[in-house]
Amino acid sequence: MRGFRLVLLLPLAASSWALSEIERASMITRQLPKAPTGVKTITTPNNFTIRYKEPGSEGVCETTPGVKSYSGYVDLSPRSHTFFWFFESRRDPANDPVTLWLNGGPGSDSLIGLFEELGPCHIHSSLESYINPYSWNEVSNILFLSQPLGVGFSYSETEAGSLNPLTGVVEDGSFAGAQGRYPVVDATIIDTTDLAAHATWEVLQGFLGGLPQLDAEIKSKEFNLWTESYGGHYGPAFFNYFYEQNARIANGTAHGVQLDFKSLGIINGIIDEAIQASYYPEFAVNNTYGIKAVNETVYNYMKFANEMPNGCQDQVALCKLTNRTSVADYAICTEATNMCRDNVEGPYYQFGGRGVYDIRHPYNDPTPPSYYVEYLQKDSVMDAIGVDINYTEASNDVYYAFQQTGDFVWPNFIEDLEKILQLPVRVSLGYGDADYICNWFGGQAISLAVNYTHAAQFRTAGYTPMTVDGVEYGETREYGNFSFTRIYQAGHEVPYYQPIAALQLFNRTLFGWDIAAGTTQVSPGYRTNGTSRATHTESYVPLSTTSSETVH
Ligand SMILES: *[C@@H]1O[C@H](CO)[C@@H](O)[C@H](O)[C@H]1NC(C)=O
Ligand SMILES: *[C@@H]1O[C@H](CO)[C@@H](O)[C@H](O)[C@H]1NC(C)=O
Ligand SMILES: *[C@@H]1O[C@H](CO)[C@@H](O)[C@H](O)[C@H]1NC(C)=O
Ligand SMILES: *[C@@H]1O[C@H](CO)[C@@H](O)[C@H](O)[C@H]1NC(C)=O
Ligand SMILES: *[C@@H]1O[C@H](CO)[C@@H](O)[C@H](O)[C@H]1NC(C)=O
Ligand SMILES: *[C@@H]1O[C@H](CO)[C@@H](O)[C@H](O)[C@H]1NC(C)=O
Ligand SMILES: *[C@@H]1O[C@H](CO)[C@@H](O)[C@H](O)[C@H]1NC(C)=O
Ligand SMILES: *[C@@H]1O[C@H](CO)[C@@H](O)[C@H](O)[C@H]1NC(C)=O
Ligand SMILES: *[C@@H]1O[C@H](CO)[C@@H](O)[C@H](O)[C@H]1NC(C)=O
Ligand SMILES: *[C@@H]1O[C@H](CO)[C@@H](O)[C@H](O)[C@H]1NC(C)=O
Repeated sequence: MRGFRLVLLLPLAASSWALSEIERASMITRQLPKAPTGVKTITTPNNFTIRYKEPGSEGVCETTPGVKSYSGYVDLSPRSHTFFWFFESRRDPANDPVTLWLNGGPGSDSLIGLFEELGPCHIHSSLESYINPYSWNEVSNILFLSQPLGVGFSYSETEAGSLNPLTGVVEDGSFAGAQGRYPVVDATIIDTTDLAAHATWEVLQGFLGGLPQLDAEIKSKEFNLWTESYGGHYGPAFFNYFYEQNARIANGTAHGVQLDFKSLGIINGIIDEAIQASYYPEFAVNNTYGIKAVNETVYNYMKFANEMPNGCQDQVALCKLTNRTSVADYAICTEATNMCRDNVEGPYYQFGGRGVYDIRHPYNDPTPPSYYVEYLQKDSVMDAIGVDINYTEASNDVYYAFQQTGDFVWPNFIEDLEKILQLPVRVSLGYGDADYICNWFGGQAISLAVNYTHAAQFRTAGYTPMTVDGVEYGETREYGNFSFTRIYQAGHEVPYYQPIAALQLFNRTLFGWDIAAGTTQVSPGYRTNGTSRATHTESYVPLSTTSSETVH
């Protein structure tokens, strides 16, 4: 699974998987990953260690001649080991900026983005990698981090054990033997977006502190943060926190590597549930593909659950009234999360039969394929990237820990976004128009709801076609540095579906071009002209009768 998971559907999906997994476990004795060879170590000026390898030199992933890549761990303490994978820009690594990419979850790994979306390589069904010509390192150095601890290859400690087949959490070898080596974490230590922001700033500073020793060529201090899905929470919160900490470095009240913040990008993000929840029922029946995924009874139920007394909206408002500090506060916010997800968002999954991440697809959607997960189990690949634990694409430990605080419905992320919109940085929101879970109706509503100095000008700017080389890929509303782009024919993982448009959304944002055409450098008063609504429609997509049963 990718993006963020759905608690209400986990038991169903897990139980069918459980039986075959238990059967297989009783038949197969599994090996534990071997220790990687040739790992190098750096001690950074801020006294952290970076353990790394150069996967590209062993033929793994970025094999473009002359383009270096590094992967391994930033060790902040004996109990904090964060996996990173850094790729030089293919263009001008010395002068191009540094971009941090984060996928969502909570608990989903950023290597999803690397291998399925915007990274330098993708993986074939034959488990061989091939170069992605639309990788975002065409124009920027890119850092992928697996966060928080427990996700991807990041860990506090490790142990030989197994995954509980029903809950998906890590158990030691006394339950089902040693089926693999897994990360052991106390996921309750980092169980909110705000705490994850603090932890990731430390990791980023650890990495940047060691960067001159790791790759002396990288000179630019220009920094971008791009995120997706639950990254609608991570993006605003992390950027805002990073920016404040950076200001402390600038005025000498903190030590570290000072950055020059350039942009925040959010792809199909869940930023604010109070605003976005209302668009689940609407998108389910009145989307641009002419699909009516649920009948009127179910639509009315979803709408009523959202608006009724003590329904989704009321409960989210109650969460907002709390300080979000005590167990009681958390319980109120968790209950709101469950109310909204089970009754407003969820009925589409139960009754619609259509994709979580793409309304054109069946519920069990094999798109995009996740061959990379198997690729990361190859001994040669694990050795080349410097890891000796089994890969965790999506950590249920982390997911459940965040679930316990109700972070999903906290109201502070749109406030963070409003603060960021006052800064001299670019903010781009991009939404694939076929995604249900973070649909573009909700994203558009966020763009129109945010209050900041130029909100009125932004709201009255019109939609204009977003084109690359004369081909229309979407519609953009932009005023100054802030833009919202609806991208056609794209599910949740936009760079997978529309790699050309995604790369230009990124490129134009980073280097100050207008998002719609990439022909002018935007000035403070730049505005798009056009219709007030993004009215483009697509033809109806019938649900394939030969839908895949693969659950991933
Ligand atoms: C864990 O990784 C090892 C080495 O790649 C592999 O042999 C083993 O099957 C993996 N365990 C699971 C449960 O996938
Ligand atoms: C660096 O860390 C090591 C142990 O992690 C410690 O022994 C040493 O004193 C530290 N050095 C400085 C300069 O802080
Ligand atoms: C330094 O910057 C931080 C963050 O903006 C601010 O809170 C603090 O007051 C500043 N301190 C001084 C001494 O300027
Ligand atoms: C469908 O959505 C459009 C706006 O996107 C709105 O104008 C129209 O009233 C909606 N139709 C129904 C039946 O809700
Ligand atoms: C609508 O769909 C639900 C769920 O499939 C079903 O129980 C109900 O009878 C349907 N209602 C109508 C009016 O078709
Ligand atoms: C929030 O915390 C403050 C200070 O601890 C307290 O006075 C106030 O009553 C709290 N508010 C709520 C709604 O819990
Ligand atoms: C727009 O963002 C760029 C950084 O990407 C910044 O240099 C510029 O000052 C910003 N413009 C405004 C009007 O804030
Ligand atoms: C923006 O301000 C308006 C008017 O004060 C308010 O109704 C709206 O809720 C605010 N939007 C957000 C996202 O806070
Ligand atoms: C980035 O955008 C600019 C402006 O549209 C364009 O000239 C340049 O070719 C783009 N770079 C890439 C790698 O596509
Ligand atoms: C939008 O229209 C205004 C007023 O006619 C014009 O000044 C501006 O250049 C136009 N914007 C674009 C992007 O064409």
